[in-house]
Amino acid sequence: MNKYPKYEYPKPIPVKNRKWPDCQLKKAPVWCSVDLRDGNQALPIPMTPERKLKYFKMLVEIGFKEIEVGFPSASQDDFDFTRKLITENHVPKGVRISVLTQARKHLIDRTVESLAGVKEAIIHCYVAASDLHGHIVFDKNRDDVMKMSVEGTKMISKGIEKAGLKNIAYEFSPEEFTDTDIDFAVKVCEAVKEAWGKSAKQDFILNLPATVERRPPYQYADMIEYFIGKYRYMDETTISVHAHNDQGCAVASTDMSLLAGAERVEGTLFGHGERTGNVDIVTLALNIHSRGIKTNLNFSDMNSIVKVVEAASGIPVHQRHPYAGELVFTAFSGSHQDAIRKGLNSRKKAEEFFHLGWKVPYLHIDPADIGRKYERLIRINSQSGKGGAVFILEQDFGFRPPKEMHPEIGDAVQAYADKKKKEITSDELFEVFKKNFIDIKGPYGLDGFHIISEENAGETVRAKISVTINGTKCEIEGEGNGPVSATVHALKTRKDVIGFIINDFSEQSMGQTADATAVAYVSVKRNSDGKIFYGVGIHSNIEQAALRAVFAALNKAASN
Ligand code: KIV
Ligand code: ZN
Repeated sequence: MNKYPKYEYPKPIPVKNRKWPDCQLKKAPVWCSVDLRDGNQALPIPMTPERKLKYFKMLVEIGFKEIEVGFPSASQDDFDFTRKLITENHVPKGVRISVLTQARKHLIDRTVESLAGVKEAIIHCYVAASDLHGHIVFDKNRDDVMKMSVEGTKMISKGIEKAGLKNIAYEFSPEEFTDTDIDFAVKVCEAVKEAWGKSAKQDFILNLPATVERRPPYQYADMIEYFIGKYRYMDETTISVHAHNDQGCAVASTDMSLLAGAERVEGTLFGHGERTGNVDIVTLALNIHSRGIKTNLNFSDMNSIVKVVEAASGIPVHQRHPYAGELVFTAFSGSHQDAIRKGLNSRKKAEEFFHLGWKVPYLHIDPADIGRKYERLIRINSQSGKGGAVFILEQDFGFRPPKEMHPEIGDAVQAYADKKKKEITSDELFEVFKKNFIDIKGPYGLDGFHIISEENAGETVRAKISVTINGTKCEIEGEGNGPVSATVHALKTRKDVIGFIINDFSEQSMGQTADATAVAYVSVKRNSDGKIFYGVGIHSNIEQAALRAVFAALNKAASN
């Protein structure tokens, strides 16, 4: 057992001048969900009929036109579910349900019976085609496999006819295709096609599964290209792929197989299925979406889809699952957050000047495409720095603090996050901002302000200001070219107020209506050591907002 090498390199496929690596995908494949069959059979607790129905309806809403609903001959539950879908009219026009069967008479009969009254459907028959399976599991040789495949196909064709079913397509899977001698697989599939007879392309499906992913993804693609090159009935056949994920490459191998000519994909949402699962259609489809190709699947409410799948499967979607995970549109590092903020703010420029579609640093797709919100884009933790904090203040609350203020905001947020030892939410961030810049308690309070006189058409104002200084209420007077400078001059006459100068002043309005709120940002420089402190004032009146900002900054300078 310890002999080395224990495993063999999978034998390459003899494709001459392979073309698929130079191909580009032009359109989305036909999607077939196998969640309710391959996915369901591999759940620790299979879905209840109610859950299955809810799931089925969700698959229809997402846009699947082909849905494998069960293995009716193998399980009474699957038989009953198929009957329920048909008799209760749950299958909309244009959607084909599919049912799986083995190539044995009594199983085929039961499968056909499950479809009574269906308007259109697919019967999917599989026969294990690999030598490994034939010899070790069934004690059958290639002739036996060929015979079973052809006879099973004929039995199905007859069964459909006998039952008077209309619009039934046929799907055949040489199970373990990627472990099967490729020329033998071609031979079996041609014999099956001949047994079935003439067909429209969409009504005869050859599904070529990687039942166990034993080959690298490029070899799966090679097998598909080779198969298509040899098989004689491509005009009347749809080639389908069905990749399992044992090596974690099912998305890649399916992607490559599509370049190699496959036109249909079977898989499940988030990759549920036997062992490591089936190919994850969410990831595959959204990868295709990210290349500018219409997928015909609607994942615009990803959070709801995640909830339904998690409830049905009892298995949580991983936080870092591509596209769907809770963390995939978050950035923890400050430099990432800063780049995202700049990228989002320059979206127009990127489109107009660089002719880029969606290109934002660190964000592969626009989260809005799948119903995720910008406000959840960035979590702030002790690593995130000022960029992320300012971004949230802008995006979620409409503040546009001056650039010089950003480091002070970053420091305040950092200190809070360090203490909390966890990421902080946007509401918490606002509270930190309020506590550190707006609601600053200290020795100075503004109680009232009124203008006594104005001269030179309002260029010089004299004002009386009611203040509380160190707990004592008093009236002070000052003159200046506006309310702020008049107040500052008045405060400067007092010995019980620290020495300061106004270092920076800016204002903005929030909202565009008549009752827009004014926001003022003021920094004062403390005379004793030259340190700068920012304060923020908010009021419906711009002058009041400015005065509040002055007092907030001054209180900070006096208390720190
Ligand atoms: O993985 C597989 O080979 C299957 C077949 C039934 C198609 O699920
Ligand atoms: Zn499978």
